Amino acid sequence: MPMPPPSQPEKPPAHGIIESVDRVTDVVLRAMAGAPNPRLREVMTAFVRHLHAFTREVRLTQDEYDFAIDVLNRIGKTTTDTHNEGILFADSVGFSTLVVLMNNGGKGPTETAAALLGPFWRDNSPLTPNGGSILRSPTPGPALFVNGRMTDADGRPIPGVEVDVWQSSPAGLYENQDPNQADMNLRGRFHTDENGRFWFRSVKPAGYPVPVHGPTGDLLRAQHRHPYRPAHLHVLGFKPGYRTLITQVFVDDDECLESDVVFGVTRALIGNYRPHGADETPPGPDVEAPWYTLDYAFVMQPGEAKRPIPPIK
Ligand code: BEZ
Ligand code: FE
Repeated sequence: MPMPPPSQPEKPPAHGIIESVDRVTDVVLRAMAGAPNPRLREVMTAFVRHLHAFTREVRLTQDEYDFAIDVLNRIGKTTTDTHNEGILFADSVGFSTLVVLMNNGGKGPTETAAALLGPFWRDNSPLTPNGGSILRSPTPGPALFVNGRMTDADGRPIPGVEVDVWQSSPAGLYENQDPNQADMNLRGRFHTDENGRFWFRSVKPAGYPVPVHGPTGDLLRAQHRHPYRPAHLHVLGFKPGYRTLITQVFVDDDECLESDVVFGVTRALIGNYRPHGADETPPGPDVEAPWYTLDYAFVMQPGEAKRPIPPIK
């Protein structure tokens, strides 16, 4: 048999034509079966099987298909340098939390150490000495003093962890959403000391509604769901040799703990934000009652340290 000239492509492998609706899934799977990357082959095969099974189960109509494609396109169009609708949508259907909990922890106390990153982490927040404040512009609200500790699963301190923290203001807004806050207000980067400790001054965060101007907001309204997150402090611990710990510590008196719109709350992540009254000596001359303290120990696991892709700039 004569060989084709080198410039002529080989005849593509045939996956077959669609003889009937029952054959679609098999034909598509056959078309994808030659992917050389085994993980791509595994993930895409399962994705197509489940997508087709779901489509059959709900007997998806053409209008619903058109609507779904429009939602996908709007997720893309709503995303900007300062807003990540893709992450928000994944969060609002529990996808992010499922992936986090499947890929972190293990037996025992580390089981729920990780939580979703959310769309508001910014890289390169200001390096701040332990004991410093993360207020970068006047921010009214009750003072909060945070004492954190990074340990391994056996309780041994981990020094030299780079710890990013970020939070909303007592008005429930991140600085990038609020023209009244300075750039990088309520964000900071610390290093744990030789005892694995980091500590700083802040203000008590408040709960807030997630942004609802895009398709995620449409979904929440259609499902009669409120858009609120319970108040929390975000923490990201990074040190080569350890899995990067991304987590949140929730305020224990928040009324939305059991109805977090993005399903981030686990028992282990509810912190003890202790109120202190006028009968106690304040930790500084400018501290008014009530003020709060939060002591929390974070457990890091050995593994690969990877900084996440910042969701916003
Ligand atoms: C956040 O905690 O910053 C967040 C998480 C998910 C969606 C919106 C905000
Ligand atoms: Fe948050």
